[in-house]
Amino acid sequence: MEFRHLGRSGLMVSEISYGNWITHGSQVEEDAAHACVRAALDEGITTFDTADVYAGTKAEEVLGRALKGVRRESLEIFTKVYWPTGPGRNDRGLSRKHIMESINGSLRRLGTDYVDLYQAHRFDFETPLEETLRAFDDLVRQGKVLYVGVSEWSADQISQALKIAESMGFDRLVSNQPQYSMLWRVIEAEVVPLSEREGLGQIVWSPIAQGVLTGKYLPGQPPPAGSRATDTNGSRFIDSLMSDEVLRRVQELKPVAADHGLTMAQLAVAWVLQNPNVSSAIVGATRPEQVRDNVKAAGVKLDADTMRKIDDILGPVVERDPAKTVSPASRP
Ligand SMILES: NC(=O)c1ccc[n+]([C@@H]2O[C@H](COP(=O)([O-])OP(=O)(O)OC[C@H]3O[C@@H](n4cnc5c(N)ncnc54)[C@H](OP(=O)(O)O)[C@@H]3O)[C@@H](O)[C@H]2O)c1
Repeated sequence: MEFRHLGRSGLMVSEISYGNWITHGSQVEEDAAHACVRAALDEGITTFDTADVYAGTKAEEVLGRALKGVRRESLEIFTKVYWPTGPGRNDRGLSRKHIMESINGSLRRLGTDYVDLYQAHRFDFETPLEETLRAFDDLVRQGKVLYVGVSEWSADQISQALKIAESMGFDRLVSNQPQYSMLWRVIEAEVVPLSEREGLGQIVWSPIAQGVLTGKYLPGQPPPAGSRATDTNGSRFIDSLMSDEVLRRVQELKPVAADHGLTMAQLAVAWVLQNPNVSSAIVGATRPEQVRDNVKAAGVKLDADTMRKIDDILGPVVERDPAKTVSPASRP
């Protein structure tokens, strides 16, 4: 495993992190979840990402149990707040009330006294940014949270937060967690340049486009049994990435991966790690073999010619519009 700084902070994270969205507490049984976490630890992954909302809060519990007994100081545990965790009007969003209540639930479920990174899962248009940032800062001072970051915020929203933090003396954001893959490059135009200037690192999600970039989904054919596209919950999220045109072009990447002695999943993870503003790529897995496959992307260098070939193959199906980074206009 290789390690990078989380943005300009002193915190080091594994280049490849393990995330448990859709899988833990939902798509896979508890023993399979533990086997994946064990494989991640064996392969040198130290950074684990989850969220209060995953599997209706069950994912944090599964991760907490899977990491039980592991030396806390050897791990970086990340979680998030914003999406609903209960039926009440205040069980969502980034109000001081929900942030304070949600962190306590997350710590209890994860079985830890603190998380290394606490992330605002989306931007909340119904809470003054100052209220959110002050609550985050209080958590840092209480020692419940070591660093604060955001997820899927636009460059303008990040910029506003940095200005407020500076003028109020609040702890600064160190990271953003955006979707980023060969197919989804919307952060490149605005979020990455701002983050480079301001010292935020990207912890990127769905680097394999939820499995699409493994090449296992074939155009015009039913998805393989047991894959995310066959899962009732998972298929809601992966479907938009699975047009025949995308799947056809993804098949054309196979010789590029083979030329480098890489699997398709490794090529996809290595590709996001070529961007120096990426601190870590969060991979998901339903089986330990997938984790073992994906971690081999750490440290892989792709030359300019290979990067160009990938651009040429995927060309028109790549999404680059920065306006695609959107948070709900009102709380979900
Ligand atoms: N901040 C946010 O809003 C946000 C949103 C989404 C995700 N995330 C974070 O990002 C993490 C990763 O997201 P993701 O799970 O979509 O990432 P991903 O790594 O792009 O996709 C993971 C899925 O692809 C399949 N897969 C992975 N490796 C494979 C391999 N070597 N061969 C074949 N299939 C393979 C597996 O699904 P199957 O076996 O079922 O096909 C696996 O669950 C999440 O767990 C979460 O921590 C954050």
